Amino acid sequence: MTAVIETDALTKVYGNVVALDAFSHRFERSRIHALMGKNGSGKSTLVKMLSGVVQPSRGSMSLGGRSAVFKTPRDAFDANIVTVHQELSLVPELSVAENIFLGRMPRTTTLGVPRIHWKAAQTATRALLDTMGLDISPTTRVADLSVGQQQVVEIAKAMSFDPALLLLDEPTSALASKEVDMLFDLLRRLKDRGVTMMYISHRMSELAEIADTVTVLRDGHHIGSVEMAQSSNEDIIDMMFGDIARAKRPGRKTSIDAETPILSVRNLTRAHAFDDISFDLKRGEVLGIAGMLGAGRTEVLRAIFGADPYDSGEVIIDGEKADTANPRAMTALGLGYTPENRKEVGLVQAHSVHSNLSIANLPQIAPKGLINKRAEKPGVQRQIEQLHIKVDHADDPVSSLSGGNQQKVVIGKWLNTDPKILFFDEPSRGVDVHAKQQIFQIIWEQAERGLSSIFVSTELEELLEVCDRILVMKEGRLIGELDPAETTLTQLYSACMGEL
Ligand SMILES: Nc1ncnc2c1ncn2[C@@H]1O[C@H](COP(=O)(O)OP(=O)(O)OP(=O)(O)O)[C@@H](O)[C@H]1O
Ligand SMILES: [Mg+2]
Repeated sequence: MTAVIETDALTKVYGNVVALDAFSHRFERSRIHALMGKNGSGKSTLVKMLSGVVQPSRGSMSLGGRSAVFKTPRDAFDANIVTVHQELSLVPELSVAENIFLGRMPRTTTLGVPRIHWKAAQTATRALLDTMGLDISPTTRVADLSVGQQQVVEIAKAMSFDPALLLLDEPTSALASKEVDMLFDLLRRLKDRGVTMMYISHRMSELAEIADTVTVLRDGHHIGSVEMAQSSNEDIIDMMFGDIARAKRPGRKTSIDAETPILSVRNLTRAHAFDDISFDLKRGEVLGIAGMLGAGRTEVLRAIFGADPYDSGEVIIDGEKADTANPRAMTALGLGYTPENRKEVGLVQAHSVHSNLSIANLPQIAPKGLINKRAEKPGVQRQIEQLHIKVDHADDPVSSLSGGNQQKVVIGKWLNTDPKILFFDEPSRGVDVHAKQQIFQIIWEQAERGLSSIFVSTELEELLEVCDRILVMKEGRLIGELDPAETTLTQLYSACMGEL
């Protein structure tokens, strides 16, 4: 078979970090090549070189036998390489159709005057979204879509360019199983048409389903490439983590205080978002909220946290009604929120890892408005160690961290506020399987010490693993409650679809 991409000792160095070290490999045409490796192993770096976003420090790449030098993303694009990057790149203020046709809006002439052919753009967008089985209006502003929906729009946009090589960096990290199935169908069809794909994901379960080959990187080194049909997930996990023991399921000691709820939500309602939401969160409990994309989970969490308003209902924390609902007041009451979209609301990209880890904690470390450096440092170091954040120096900007390591900073920042209640909205998005276990372990350890959490994840397996109790939401309403110990994955899935 002919190689579509060949790399020869391809290397990328950032300061002291060798992000990719002399990577030499041939990727064959019309196949789906999974790229696996723990957080910070160099996967996105490879994709960024292939898509012209960054340039190699050494080594070379060739495409269909011809040397490929991409100075800009445009060069890669002209070579028919289309990329869906790990961090979404849509323009929030523009509509779905405008984003998809950005810079190439279809045109028409009326009475000799050229103008944008809105109707054509909308029809073409509609058709694209239909192939992905999506019920999103082409005229909706991207800012009004959930992260999951934005991710699908981004993928639809990539498809619209008819690529020969499609690079997908964690395309499913915000998708629920229905959307993932849809995407996989689409990828298989593209493969039949001769498109070559490179696919990054931390969801091991997706490999057998979609990948033909698996290439494993670890700390910038190429550990090996195998045929998926001849490998098990255990083989691949061993390649990914080397001598670290396989992620084991650690025990969980619960110490839930069922008497007094720490958080009570009563009849919380916001028109067109959620309706009549009532539940109690117990002290020391890890409460899951399950639901499909767009079920309203994030909307409810954001409203309780005071980030968005609600029309009616009550939020009671530790016996007291919280009536000034804004994030600052809620943080002061002991609430923390790790948001699903780390780029927009979780982190200040240009700031250092250090200051991002302390930012939510300012009242404690800067009581009089001035930061007490000595009070700040232990928290920063603690989270870097506890969460195994891979960073060269705490003063480096967050933007220099790999996606999964950025996610750990979001969690560390809130743990540093020493909250009573913590909302985890997709906490393991983009985090490797080993780090995921570390995050779960931290949630449980904190729970034993009395922290109460609400956990939202599109990966239903995670909810069953992490939570003490699971509420199910559909179309803005709570439709049921399940005991994870007595629920199978299939049952939970059916419950989310409303077949309780
Ligand atoms: N712009 C940059 N400046 C400095 N270091 C960087 C930069 N971009 C990446 N790195 C470093 O290069 C290494 C590889 O990062 P990369 O983003 O390729 O990891 P990854 O495998 O995609 O991880 P993840 O699964 O977390 O997304 C990391 O140590 C990261 O901190
Ligand atoms: Mg990455």
